[in-house]
Amino acid sequence: MSTRETAIASAEAHSAHNYHPLPVVVASAEGAWMTDIEGRRYLDMLAGYSALNFGHGNRRLIDAAKAQLDRVTLTSRAFHHDRFADFCTQLAELCDMEMVLPMNTGAEAVETAVKTARKWGYRVKGVPDGMAKIIVASNNFHGRTTTVISFSTDQEARADFGPYTPGFEIVPYGDLTAMRAAMTENTVAVLLEPIQGEAGVLVPPSGYLPQVREMTRERDVLFIADEIQSGLGRTGRTFACEHEGVVPDMYVLGKALGGGVVPVSAVVSSAAVLGVYRPGEHGSTFGGNPLACAVALEVIAMLRTGEYQQRAKELGDHLHQELGLLVGGGAVDAVRGRGLWAGIDIAPRHGTGREISEKLMDRRVLVKDTHGSTIRIAPPLVISKEDLDWGLEQLREVLRG
Ligand SMILES: Cc1ncc(COP(=O)(O)O)c(C=O)c1O
Repeated sequence: MSTRETAIASAEAHSAHNYHPLPVVVASAEGAWMTDIEGRRYLDMLAGYSALNFGHGNRRLIDAAKAQLDRVTLTSRAFHHDRFADFCTQLAELCDMEMVLPMNTGAEAVETAVKTARKWGYRVKGVPDGMAKIIVASNNFHGRTTTVISFSTDQEARADFGPYTPGFEIVPYGDLTAMRAAMTENTVAVLLEPIQGEAGVLVPPSGYLPQVREMTRERDVLFIADEIQSGLGRTGRTFACEHEGVVPDMYVLGKALGGGVVPVSAVVSSAAVLGVYRPGEHGSTFGGNPLACAVALEVIAMLRTGEYQQRAKELGDHLHQELGLLVGGGAVDAVRGRGLWAGIDIAPRHGTGREISEKLMDRRVLVKDTHGSTIRIAPPLVISKEDLDWGLEQLREVLRG
């Protein structure tokens, strides 16, 4: 067996099979490139599902982490530490909001958003105890915890994990009539991805998000935007909501906030919403730790320049122009997305998304399939135009074959 095959066999023997990774074993990475344990180089066109927006081994982020490692890494929230206030202030400023509640993973931040909306509903809106409802969309992906999968419509993610958490209404994504019909006086929030990533990079119909914004405002309902995958530069703006001129009541952030170095997530909102918490009501040992804050502060500083958003826009326009040319040629049924983010529906006779991903891997390009016949492209925002073009050429070659 090769070194690679041995490593994969060993991983399969000793880890739960909750993923079906491509058969590549990465040993190091830099920028948009990864190197496997046998020295082969691959172009990363997935970027850790947008956790690596700033690329692998980004010097600024690694230096910030190293400097913090030598000072203090963890205090727990039992004490204050000297990076916390800056992190909260600067993240709130980036979001044009007032308060931050830091967590670690995306799913935890979504759980936090759910708890916050419920508490706000009881304490501020006056919903009777235990009656709060949150409206979500079909085909959503918000994480893997028990409550979060309770409002998933994906059987693979849900089956065998019940009993499920009640309190959620599911309406079709993009359907305003259904959303209006689902709203009652006990609705405390609408939770949406402004672009549905896992569903295949689904962009809602133009006008949908602004009308949800209007409807939620009229009905005294919080609009929660899960920008864990869509936010922090990916779509060519800091937040995907900006494309539609929408400001939600609450952002849920994760992935790229930790710069691909450490898990950092957060709920960001107004004082009227996050101000509902009192000591002891919510928390996390690691949430807002000094190392996380130091890395995230650097991420925020990088986003403040607008440089990465601009890059995502320019390269994204190019990406979509090139991908658009593939539609109608027989191999690609549809392409969706915004900025450096695309979902490509492969015509079924050309193979499944998995088969296309494997063929691309053989050509040293790494992407990931979703929902049978779709592949997702989300390279690090630092990718060069030449590398992006080379990756696209490999895709064309695979589709030609
Ligand atoms: C929109 C969205 N929300 C939440 C999550 C969950 O994040 P995590 O895997 O960090 O728990 C993801 C992960 O893909 C996501 O795309």
